[in-house]
Amino acid sequence: LRRTLAEAGIDNPAYEARLLLAGVLGIGLPALALRSGRPLTEAEAATLEAFAARRLAREPVARILGEWEFWGLPFALSPDTLVPRPDTETVVEAALARIPDRSRTFALIDLGTGTGCLLVALLHECPKAWGLGIDRSPGALATARANARRNGVAERALFAASDWAAAVSGSFDLVVSNPPYIASPVIATLDPDVREHDPMAALDGGADGLDAYRRILDEAPRLLRPGGHLLLEIGYDQGESVPRLAAGLPLAIEEVRPDLSGNARCVALRRI
Ligand SMILES: C[S@@+](CC[C@H](N)C(=O)[O-])C[C@H]1O[C@@H](n2cnc3c(N)ncnc32)[C@H](O)[C@@H]1O
Repeated sequence: LRRTLAEAGIDNPAYEARLLLAGVLGIGLPALALRSGRPLTEAEAATLEAFAARRLAREPVARILGEWEFWGLPFALSPDTLVPRPDTETVVEAALARIPDRSRTFALIDLGTGTGCLLVALLHECPKAWGLGIDRSPGALATARANARRNGVAERALFAASDWAAAVSGSFDLVVSNPPYIASPVIATLDPDVREHDPMAALDGGADGLDAYRRILDEAPRLLRPGGHLLLEIGYDQGESVPRLAAGLPLAIEEVRPDLSGNARCVALRRI
């Protein structure tokens, strides 16, 4: 399998082969490493062959497996949800850096929740916090609800449909969002793994990629308690354009935080 994937030009053939095999066996990678050399059953071999064929047709491994890990937690995917990216963990880190006492009660809202990964990861870290996950896609909301249940935070998580925060009232200590931020003309140039499998509503940020930020920054002062924080994931080249949109709003820019590759990834703002 590794060789077939390598010959097809897949980037990480050994890693992907292990992930697909672990998926067939219904175990994690650590368990796969310890597994004795039992041959695959006929059914397992057929499933692996089907998985390989899908991968060779450029379907991402996450889509084939139907779930992906984020912040060490499992998240089910659906055609309506983005695959959670490791870069997005930068937003979780930036949020936790602003929560000195994780055992206190506070309220957070995740705008464009998708799989629910940001909200669920933060509720998992902060056992007395509660949160609202917003998305415009009913399919994404159903998946996010299931993920909250699966990760044991459902009793502190609510999910609701809204066009950004238009249908939301109330105030929050923390607003997080990873909105669509790819400029529409750039979408055609994206890798087919992304362009053909992630939902367009999760990618398309309008003509200059900044449409969602304009909306969210306008709504944030109303949503945030004084001293509350807004954390926005941004594209690698938006470290100046997104903070600029906050000019004139009662929001102070605290930092533009890089991801593990050193790219600008998260803008942190505080309600003045
Ligand atoms: C880039 S994805 C992020 C998903 C998830 N938070 C993550 O980090 O993986 C953006 C999400 O915003 C949602 N979205 C797009 N436009 C929206 C709108 N006008 N109102 C609410 N949600 C929207 C999409 O459906 C999608 O789930």
